[in-house]
Amino acid sequence: MSQPVPVPHGLPVERDAGPFDPPREITRLRETRPVSPLVFPDGHEGWLVTGYDAVRRLMADTRFSSRQDIGIIHVPYETPGMPLPTEPSPQMPGVFVAMDPPDHTRLRRKLTGAFTVKRMKQLEEHIADITERQLDELARLTPPVDLVREFALPVPSLVICELLGVPYADRATFQVNSAKFLEKDVSLDEKMAALGGLTTYLAELVTRKRDTPGEDILSDLARQDDLGTEELVGIGFLLLLAGHETTANMLALGTFALLEHPEQLADLRADPDLLPDAVEELMRYLSVADIFYRYATEDIELGGETIGKGSTVVVSLLAANHDPRRFDNPDTLDIRRKARGHLSFGHGIHQCLGQQLARVEMRAGFEGLLRRFPTLKLAVPAAEVKLKTDMNLYGVHELPVTWTETAR
Ligand code: HEM
Repeated sequence: MSQPVPVPHGLPVERDAGPFDPPREITRLRETRPVSPLVFPDGHEGWLVTGYDAVRRLMADTRFSSRQDIGIIHVPYETPGMPLPTEPSPQMPGVFVAMDPPDHTRLRRKLTGAFTVKRMKQLEEHIADITERQLDELARLTPPVDLVREFALPVPSLVICELLGVPYADRATFQVNSAKFLEKDVSLDEKMAALGGLTTYLAELVTRKRDTPGEDILSDLARQDDLGTEELVGIGFLLLLAGHETTANMLALGTFALLEHPEQLADLRADPDLLPDAVEELMRYLSVADIFYRYATEDIELGGETIGKGSTVVVSLLAANHDPRRFDNPDTLDIRRKARGHLSFGHGIHQCLGQQLARVEMRAGFEGLLRRFPTLKLAVPAAEVKLKTDMNLYGVHELPVTWTETAR
C-alpha cells in the first residue's frame, strides 16, 4: 500500500502547529500513511506509527519488544559504544518498562497491589491534603510566580516521595538528575552521569531500607528476598522518574491550556463535576508522554505494511490521540468530550502502572488551583511561555502566573 510520500529523516518533532497540536509533518503522515517508513539520522531505516488503530494494535502486540531502551535512555539508532539496533538492548535491572515477559511480568506483579484503584481511593484524601498545603504556600507568595516550581512539580514529587519512602528533602538530587536524563540534546556521557547520580543515591537508600524498613513501597519490596539490590534500585528509579515528571508536566501544561481556553475554564470552575472528564480530555489533548520506541522481533503486518524483523518502530501517542478517525475535531480541546480510550497512558502490558495515582493527583491539583485562585492568569504573553521542545516529555519549563485574589 505504498504511496509516494517522502520518507522523513529523523523524527518530525518541531511544534510548528502551535503549543498544543501535533507537528504538521506528523499530522500529514497520519493522514497519508499512518504506518510510515522513517530514516534515522544515522541512515538506518525504521517506522513511524501515527494512526490511532495502528498504535493501539502495536502496543497490544508483544512481538514488538520494549527492549529498545537502555534503562529508558532511548537508543533508536546506532550510537558509539551501543549495540547495533538489530539487537534488543541490554537491560538495566529492575527497569521493567524496558523489558518483555517473563521479566516484565515478574517485576510488575510485585507492584500492582500498591497501585490499584482501591488503594488510590484510600489515598485520595491524603493527596488532597498535600495539594491543599502546597496551595497554602502558593497563596502566601507575592505574584507573579512560576507555577511549575511552586505547585506543579512539588505536588507529584511530594506524593511519590511519600509513597516510595524517599525523603523529600533529597529532592534536589532526583529532580535535577531526572530533568537532565529527560533532556534531548545532552551527550550519552551526561545522561549516564545523571543516571549514575540517581542510582548511587537510590542504592544507599535501598540499603538503609533493608536494614530498617518503614511503611512504604520501597521497604515492602526490600523485605522480599527474591529481589536483588540492583533490581530494587532500578524499580525505585523507574517509579521516581515516571511518578513526578509526567504528572508535573500535565499539571503545568494543563493549566496553560485551560488559561488559553477561558470559556471552558469558566465552565469547569462553575461545575467541578466536569473535572474527571476534563482531566481525561487534557490527557488526550496534550499527550505529554508522546514518543515511545519498540523493536520488531519478527516480520509483522501492521496497517497494511510489513514491518521487518529487527526494525525500530517509533509511535507517536500525540498523533494517535489526535486521529480524526477516533476523535471528532481532535485538535479542539473539549472538556465535555468522553475522551476515555485515549492512549496517553499507553496500552497493553506496559500500560501506565501509576495511572490511577496520576488521575487522583490531577483531579486534586486542578480542582484546588481553580477554587483557590479564581483570578489566576498568565503573567506573560502566551507566546513567551517556554515550551519543553527540548525534552523527551512535553510541558512548559516555567509558567509565570499572577492573581488578584485568593479563596479557601
Ligand atoms: C508506563 C504515561 C504517571 C509509573 C507508562 C506509559 C505511559 C505512561 C505512556 C507506557 C510506556 C510504554 O508503553 O512503553 C504516564 C503519564 C502520566 C504517568 C502521561 C501522568 C500524567 C505515572 C505515575 C507513576 C507512573 C504517577 C507512578 C508510579 C509508570 C510505570 C510504567 C509507566 C512504572 C511502566 C509500566 C510497565 O512497563 O509495565 N506511563 N504516566 N506513571 N508508568 Fe506512567
